[in-house]
Amino acid sequence: MSDVRNASMILRDRFGTAPEIGIILGSGLGGLADRVQGADVARYSDIPGLPMPTVAGHAGQAIVGTLAGKRVVLLRGRWHLYEGYDPVQVTVGVRSLARWGVKGLIVTNASGGISKSLAAGDLMLIADQINLTGESPLRGQPAFIDMTQAYDPGWREAAVAAARDAGIPLKQGVYAGAAGPQYETPAEVRMLAAMGADAVGMSTVLEVIAARHARVRVLGLSCITNMAAGGAAAQKVDHEEVLRTGAAVADRFAALILAILPKLRC
Ligand code: HPA
Repeated sequence: MSDVRNASMILRDRFGTAPEIGIILGSGLGGLADRVQGADVARYSDIPGLPMPTVAGHAGQAIVGTLAGKRVVLLRGRWHLYEGYDPVQVTVGVRSLARWGVKGLIVTNASGGISKSLAAGDLMLIADQINLTGESPLRGQPAFIDMTQAYDPGWREAAVAAARDAGIPLKQGVYAGAAGPQYETPAEVRMLAAMGADAVGMSTVLEVIAARHARVRVLGLSCITNMAAGGAAAQKVDHEEVLRTGAAVADRFAALILAILPKLRC
């Protein structure tokens, strides 16, 4: 049996019918899990088909419960190309949620800021993406899916309005997804800026392709944890800094998601 069929059946057995909305928590952003009311937690190791993540900051849990009055499923920990997973394995979580019956997905991540209008600690609504991995989870299928509105326009509007009403500053920009695991060189960051990328990270883009293939609506939120290639200060970038900034903005990030959730219609 395929991993996705297996995982979705186990999710159904364990948690019942699928919540409408799934949330994938990125590096250091797992704190939202503590806000879930009536949380029912399963470890990925109890869901055959979902491999345990290998990276610090990714716990490896599926959590079902209520956030801002909405029943949601959180995936705390995702899969990356740089761990050695292929594009199909990287998207096993998204595809399992979709098969279970999840209709909308909030993808979150940590990223390096490229645009001059971004600073470490900013939250950025992902308006669009650039897939720089050279990969697709759809390779081998004639799936010519539309990606012109990969990040749902109605949901983006709802997020902007929710952030404004809650008084939480929210930037907006284009997320470039690289394969990693090495951070970018200054020359690569200049190239990314010229391409139109506002921020760069090592996740999300393949998940969003898989979600759109499954007709799942997507909202993307990025936490700018550092300036890519250290920015103008030519500071080095390290994973500890990424996790530290993620932890420092965790409360604002959680508040933003709690403000947005009631406004999302699947
Ligand atoms: N580059 C790539 N991925 C990242 C970065 C970065 O600077 N920060 C957090 N994830």
